[in-house]
Amino acid sequence: MQTTSRLPGFYDLDTKQRMHNVAERAELPVEQQAALLGAAGLTPELADQMIENVVGVFALPLGVAANFVVNGRDVLVPMAIEEPSVVAGASFMAKLARAGGGFRAECSPPEMIGQLQILDVEDVEAAKAALLEQRVRVLAAVEGIDPVISELGGGARDFEVRVIERSPIGPFLVAHLIYDTRDAMGANAINTATEALAPLLEQITGGRVHLRILSNLADRRLARARVCIPQTELAFGGYSGKRVRDGIIEAWAFAAADPYRAATHNKGIMNGVDAVVIATGNDWRAIEAGAHAYAARSGCYSSLSRWRKDENGDLLGELEMPMAVGTVGGATRVHPGAQAALRLLGVGSAAGLAEIIVSVGLAQNIAALRALSTEGIQRGHMGLHARQVAIAAGAEGAEVERLARQLVAEEKVRVDRARELLQSWRIGGGGNAQGGEQ
Ligand code: MEV
Repeated sequence: MQTTSRLPGFYDLDTKQRMHNVAERAELPVEQQAALLGAAGLTPELADQMIENVVGVFALPLGVAANFVVNGRDVLVPMAIEEPSVVAGASFMAKLARAGGGFRAECSPPEMIGQLQILDVEDVEAAKAALLEQRVRVLAAVEGIDPVISELGGGARDFEVRVIERSPIGPFLVAHLIYDTRDAMGANAINTATEALAPLLEQITGGRVHLRILSNLADRRLARARVCIPQTELAFGGYSGKRVRDGIIEAWAFAAADPYRAATHNKGIMNGVDAVVIATGNDWRAIEAGAHAYAARSGCYSSLSRWRKDENGDLLGELEMPMAVGTVGGATRVHPGAQAALRLLGVGSAAGLAEIIVSVGLAQNIAALRALSTEGIQRGHMGLHARQVAIAAGAEGAEVERLARQLVAEEKVRVDRARELLQSWRIGGGGNAQGGEQ
C-alpha cells in the first residue's frame, strides 16, 4: 500500500533505484514497472493500432513528483515532460503545502457539451422556442446511445439552445447537448450523440444541421484545487516568508490584469497539468484548449489561478479550470505506460485524476511565482539545462554531470563553451577542469 509520498534522497538515486522505490510503495507489478521504464511500454505494433502511418514511438522523460497530499491522501505523481525544473518545482511546493494540510480538490459532474450548428432557419427565435419545447424528446433520442456510459450512470442530462446573432454568415442557432460521460473523457460518446441528434433537430427547426462536435470549452466539467501555505514555510535564504508571500501575490496580480503575462503564467500551470495528462494517456490538446478558452471567459484573457493572504497571514491559492480527462477508453486504456501511471497515482475515477491534476497545476504555478518573485527562474533551471547543453556538446557518461557543473560554475551554460571544455579535457586525458569543478 502507498503510505507516504515523501521520498527523501530520491533525487540522488539512479533511475532503476527510483523505480524500485516507487514500485514498492505503489505495489506496481513487474510488467507495469517495465512499461514505465520504457522497455515494455508502447511498442510500434501497439502504436500501429492507435494512429495512421506509424513508423515508431516517441518517448519523453517520465519523472515522479514527491510530497503531494491531495484530499488527505499521499500521492506519487507521474509526470511526462521534457522541461527541466518542472518535477522538482512541483515536488518542492507540494512539500511546503504539506505543512498546511496539502491540497483540497473537487470536481463538478463530468458533463461535456456537444454542439450542433443549425443553419438556414427562417426565424431563429421561433426555432429556438420549438427546440426547447421538445427538450424531453431530444434527450430521449440519445438516451442509451453509449450503453457502457449509460450502464455506469451517465448519459444525456440537458439540452440548451443559443442564438448567435452576429456572425460572418448572419444569425444561426447552436444547440448544446449536455452529456455526462462518467469516467470517460467522452469525445466519442458526445460526437456520436450529436451526430445521431441532427435529423431530429432538422425536423423540429426546418433548418440544416451543419457541424456536430463536442466543445473543448468544458466549462461544466471543472476541477478546483485550493492550498494554504503557512507564511513561515515560504521563508528561505535572505527572503522572509512575508516578502515571498507578498511577492507571489504581486506576481499573480500582474497575470490577473495583463494577458501578455497571463499567457506565461498559465503556461506555467500547464507545465504541471500537461505532464500528468500526458503520463496518463489523456488528450492534452483538449485540456490546453479548454484551459485557455476558460481563461478568456470574461472577455479578457486572465490568470486561471488566484492568490491571496488569509487572516493569519498565510498564503492561499486556488485554481479552477476545465478538466476533461478519463480513466477508461482511448489511449488511457491502450497505452501500457498510461495504465501504470494510473496505478501509481492510485486513482480509479476520472474525478480522482482531475483532482490530482489541478493540484499539480497549482503547485507548479506557485513554484514559478516563488522563483520569479525572488531569485529569478534561471538559477533553478540552469543545473538541468546545463546537462542538456553538455549532452548536446557531445558529453557522455560521467562527463555530462562534470561538464554541467563546470558550465554552471562559470555561468556560461552555452554549447560553444561546453564543446571547448570537452575538447580540452579529452585532449588532456580528462584532466584539468579549469579549477571550477565542484
Ligand atoms: C516556464 O516553462 C514557465 C514559467 O514561465 C511560468 C511563469 O512565468 O509563471 C516560469
